[in-house]
Amino acid sequence: MDKLLISGGGPLSGEIRISGAKNSALPILAATLLADGPVMVSNIPHLHDITTMFELLGCLGVTVTMNEKMQVDVDATTLNNHIAPYDLVKTMRASILVLGPMLAKYGVAKVSFPGGCAIGSRPVDLHLEGLKLMGASVEIDGGYINASVDGRLRGAHITMGIVSVGATENLMMAAALAEGQTIIENAAREPEVVDLAQCINTLGGRVSGAGTSTIVIDGVLSLHRGSYRVMPDRIETATYLAAAVATRGKIKLKDANPKTLGAVLKKLQEAGATITTGIDWIQLDMEKKRPKAVSFATAPYPGFPTDMQAQLTAVNAVAEGSAVIVETVFENRLVQINELNRMGAVISVDKNTASVTGVERLKAAPVMASDLRASASLVIAGLVADGDTVVDRIYHIDRGYECIEEKFQQLGAKIRRIPG
Ligand code: EPZ
Repeated sequence: MDKLLISGGGPLSGEIRISGAKNSALPILAATLLADGPVMVSNIPHLHDITTMFELLGCLGVTVTMNEKMQVDVDATTLNNHIAPYDLVKTMRASILVLGPMLAKYGVAKVSFPGGCAIGSRPVDLHLEGLKLMGASVEIDGGYINASVDGRLRGAHITMGIVSVGATENLMMAAALAEGQTIIENAAREPEVVDLAQCINTLGGRVSGAGTSTIVIDGVLSLHRGSYRVMPDRIETATYLAAAVATRGKIKLKDANPKTLGAVLKKLQEAGATITTGIDWIQLDMEKKRPKAVSFATAPYPGFPTDMQAQLTAVNAVAEGSAVIVETVFENRLVQINELNRMGAVISVDKNTASVTGVERLKAAPVMASDLRASASLVIAGLVADGDTVVDRIYHIDRGYECIEEKFQQLGAKIRRIPG
């Protein structure tokens, strides 16, 4: 298994380009199953999870062709199989996102039941309950979700018990071709949900209210061919900003969208960062100052994103003062703290709350990644540790960060991949 070797150093400086958003590209690629013709999707990041989604679409018989500009043409009219197999779903839970579109377009879908992962049990009950309300019959058999509907799905009024990004996306895609109107209450408001809604509307869908808690979808008979450009990755953006804060640096991120990062930018300013923004760029300058510790609690958008909790915890580990961090979205998403403490951090955990007292510098150590964002927090920790830190199991990182060592090298970090 590959590892990353990071030599602790000084402030990050320079500028890099932000890639397309993984968590927008994945549902958008699933949504291409709804269309009656090829859909060209651009600004797709080159990530392991995206490759897995391509494999899954290929497995369904969908034609996926990529041009030299990493633009992907997805033609679902060649679909000849309705089964999303265990070996693909087990490597990427987001495979569940093909369930809604496949059911809506073809009336049948068989998707391996996604297991939990390091950060929690990750149930899919909200996805299945919503589809049942739309007239689908759903059975679990032999580890598979078997879903079917006679004729078309029917619009329904769905109130989500918990704010769920994936369930909102799955049900929005299913409703796009359902008969009549679907209303999703307590819907997720994430920018990736908005991006998906805009893509569906580009293909002839009728989705309104995306970005608010109530999304209204008027089903149409079919969606046509089209093209769509995926939004910039807000979590990749925030990760590099957090690394610049921890290392007291000054960086500029191009092809970023500051409008999707309100809660994060506010917290980083509280930590002492000077942030300036444009339509498609963000500059952060710590003026070589040590960050101040900032307390926060994660929450669904527009709250502070759970996908940035591990990274800001790493910043707090070397910040001035103490802070309290509360993880409210996932039940087991503080696991990276054990590894940070092995690097000399002073963090105690009580259930879903972490209390951090910052230290001036961490100490390099061999550490192990447990999930995508925890891996990113260990890279940040390595940048502000004395000595050489080796992060193992970085296949987690390759799922969500395009060219991570090249981008950090461009910002002046001493980081390289060691083939495992
Ligand atoms: C999406 O996961 C993201 N993944 C996650 O990013 C992100 O952390 C999460 O949303 C929250 O923002 C993708 O978009 C591919 P949820 P998702 O459904 O949709 C519970 C990353 O690092 N729940 O919003 O799976 C669930 O257990 C990844 O890029 C149910 O109880 O998250 C959790 O506690 C990690 N029943 C809460 O809702 C359900 O049917 C929020 O989960 C569905 C979810």
